Amino acid sequence: MTHIDSAVTIADGIQWIGADDRTASIFEGAFPIPEGVSYNSYLITGEGTCLLDTCDSSVASRFWRKLRSALGDRKLDYMIIDHMEPDHGACISQVLETWPDVTVIGNEKTFDMMQNFYHMVPENRIVVTDGQELEVCGKRLRFVFAPMVHWPEVMFTYDVDDRILFSADAFGTFGALSGALFADEADFDRVYLDEARRYYANIVGKYGANVQRAFKKLEGVDIGMICPLHGPIWREDLGYILGKYGLWSTYQPEERGVVIAYTSMYGNTAAVADRLAILLKERDVANVAVHDATRVHPSYIVADAFRFSNIVLAATTYNNNLHPTMSAVIEDMSIMAVQNRGYSVIGNGSWVPQSARIMEERLSAMKDMTKVGETLVLKSSLSDEQVAELEKLADDIAASI
Ligand code: FEO
Repeated sequence: MTHIDSAVTIADGIQWIGADDRTASIFEGAFPIPEGVSYNSYLITGEGTCLLDTCDSSVASRFWRKLRSALGDRKLDYMIIDHMEPDHGACISQVLETWPDVTVIGNEKTFDMMQNFYHMVPENRIVVTDGQELEVCGKRLRFVFAPMVHWPEVMFTYDVDDRILFSADAFGTFGALSGALFADEADFDRVYLDEARRYYANIVGKYGANVQRAFKKLEGVDIGMICPLHGPIWREDLGYILGKYGLWSTYQPEERGVVIAYTSMYGNTAAVADRLAILLKERDVANVAVHDATRVHPSYIVADAFRFSNIVLAATTYNNNLHPTMSAVIEDMSIMAVQNRGYSVIGNGSWVPQSARIMEERLSAMKDMTKVGETLVLKSSLSDEQVAELEKLADDIAASI
């Protein structure tokens, strides 16, 4: 009989014991999560019991109820730590206090971090090396190191016989599960894709080369199911999410299209950004997204920079410098290694316009960026004479799409 804290069986002898958090408004103290987030944890029960990662403190009580209910009278024999970040490791010390004999499986860096976070290293531990296999609870488990996807100690655990990849943060997404534990049970494009992209771009986006290196190690590995630490489990159409990761991690645009982000103080720069969007639509550019950067969190703009082939930034001058909000947006793009895009710039300033020059300098310093069209500089507002320049910019952007 199931009850409110029942675990969900996802494969023979493997249960999901995760939980959703819809109360937190910010993830990692940095990213808004209006759709919530899930924290997944998994339990193997067979010839012994093995927990794969714990959870965030926000869902700890539900995690414990599920774990205890799934274990029944049994004790915990093993705990594998694929990722030490506290959104998955918040219950590690409590697990060790509850079952002091538990054998913890991790790599050298895992235990270094455990020392730093919790000031202890478990007595019973197995320090694995990259590619090592162990028999745990009657299952052959292989440990595939995936450093910097998203932290240096990250590893994937591959269940050889069941063809299941426990993928840590990889293939995760913002957004609570809303009852659909498996991606094929949800309309992923509608419900999750934007948040999966925003999660990837802002959490792992900087580490594309590391994602590629981890994928290389999985070449030829038969994967039937992907179990991430956030978001739904993949058991069908794995090529879909692998394809998205292939594009994102090599900084290739997912769609030909334009993200326009602007800051405006009195509406004049906003009017030009909006007009440009209309002109692009008139030129059959199908995908155009416009963001007021003063109202939209930079993580959404960074996500659209990963999505689209072209970026247009329009911003005012402020204190003889770039408007601080746009400055933060460009900083985020640069940190998350946005690259290989077409870019165009519109600046504004009422006596000494500086913003266009600064934006151009900073965008052109990013890798493989191609300037599209001529930079447009407004003196407070678009003059009648400049309408043709804006139309020419739209022509050039449309031609580059
Ligand atoms: Fe979900 Fe990097 O932790």
